[in-house]
Amino acid sequence: MSLFQQHSLSIAQLKHILENNLPVHIFDVRSQADFDQWHIPDSILLPVNEALQATDANVFKELTLVRDHPVVVVCQEGFLSQKAMQQLRDLHIEAYSLEGGIRQWTKVWNTAEIQIDTTKIIQIRRVGKGCLSYMIISDNMAVVIDPALSSDVFINLATQHQAHIKYVLDTHIHADHFSRAKDLANKTDADLMLPDQNVLQYDFHPLKDGDLLHFGQTYLKALHTPGHTDESFSYLWLDKVLFSGDVLFLNGVGRPDLKSDQQMAIQKTEKLYQSLQKIKSLPDETLILPGHFSGAIRFDQNIVGDTLINLKEQLDLLKLNQPDFIQEILTDMPDTPPNFENIVDLNIKGEANEKDLLQLEAGGNRCSSQK
Ligand SMILES: [Fe+2]
Repeated sequence: MSLFQQHSLSIAQLKHILENNLPVHIFDVRSQADFDQWHIPDSILLPVNEALQATDANVFKELTLVRDHPVVVVCQEGFLSQKAMQQLRDLHIEAYSLEGGIRQWTKVWNTAEIQIDTTKIIQIRRVGKGCLSYMIISDNMAVVIDPALSSDVFINLATQHQAHIKYVLDTHIHADHFSRAKDLANKTDADLMLPDQNVLQYDFHPLKDGDLLHFGQTYLKALHTPGHTDESFSYLWLDKVLFSGDVLFLNGVGRPDLKSDQQMAIQKTEKLYQSLQKIKSLPDETLILPGHFSGAIRFDQNIVGDTLINLKEQLDLLKLNQPDFIQEILTDMPDTPPNFENIVDLNIKGEANEKDLLQLEAGGNRCSSQK
C-alpha cells in the first residue's frame, strides 16, 4: 500500500514522516556542491541533476538503489524532483517529489523543552538552518529570545502554554536570518528589549550590561558579551542556564569577521576572548544554550545544549591564551553566510516579507568560526 495517494509531498508531510519515524529514504538529486552546502539529515546524494536535465532516458536505470522503503526526492526547487520521481516510479519504486525543493526545508521547525523547578524552557529549532530560538515561561509569563521563525509560531506556543509574552529579546543583530523580534513584540504588545546600540532604525528598549528582566517568579540577567558583534549580549538565568547567542556554540565560538576589516576583526577577536573569559567564570554546571547548531537537529525532542564544564573540556579554543586564540580564530575563516549583507540590512530596517526570506535565508548557518 502506498504511503500517500498523491505523487508529491509538501514540506509539512515530510516533517510528519520524520517526526513519526516513518520508513523513507530521501534521495537528493542536486549536485555534490549544493548538497555540501546543506541537505536534509540522512538524505542520500544521487548527483544526477545534469543527467536529468540533459536526457529523457531513465537516469536511475544503471544505479544500485536502496528499495526497501518509499523514496522522497529532493532537488533545488521541486522541478527536477518530479522528473526523478516519475523515472523512479517507472522502475517500480514508490517515489514522491518534495514540492518546492530544498528551500522549503528552511521553514521546518520543531521544539524540545526542559523544566527546572517552576520554570519551563522551550527550545524552538529551525532544523534546516540550525537557528535556535527560546521561550522561557514562569508563572504564565514568557520571554522570547532570538525569534527566528514567523511570529505565529511563538504566539501559538505561548497560547498552548497559557502564557503571556512579556519581553522579546535578540542576542545581537543577526546576519543569517531575519529577526522576527520587532514583529513579535508588536503583535503581542510585549516590550522589545535589544542590546544597546545606535544601528537599528526602529524603537526598542536598550539593554545594558547587568540589567535584570523580571517575569513571573524569576528573572534573566543581561550580559554584554561582545566579539561576534560589538553589541552581542548573552542572557543568564539564575546562574543555571546561559543563552549564549552566537558567542559560544557547542562546537566552537562566534566568528568576529563579518562586516569587519582585518584591524576590526582583530579587535573583535580580543573582545570575544574577554567575553569567553566572563562566560568561563560562570558555575561549571551552567547549561549553555546557543543561538545556533551546525549539526543535524533531530526530531528526538532532546534539547541542544551542554554544560559549561563539558565545553571547557571539549573545545580546544577555550583552552588557548589570548594571542593563540586570535591567531587560531583569524586563520582560515569559513565562507561568509549567504546573503549576509542583505539580511543585516533587513534587520537594521526591521522590515521584510516572508516570501523574499524563503530565498534569502536558504542554506545552513555560518555564524561559527569553525568550518
Ligand atoms: Fe550571528
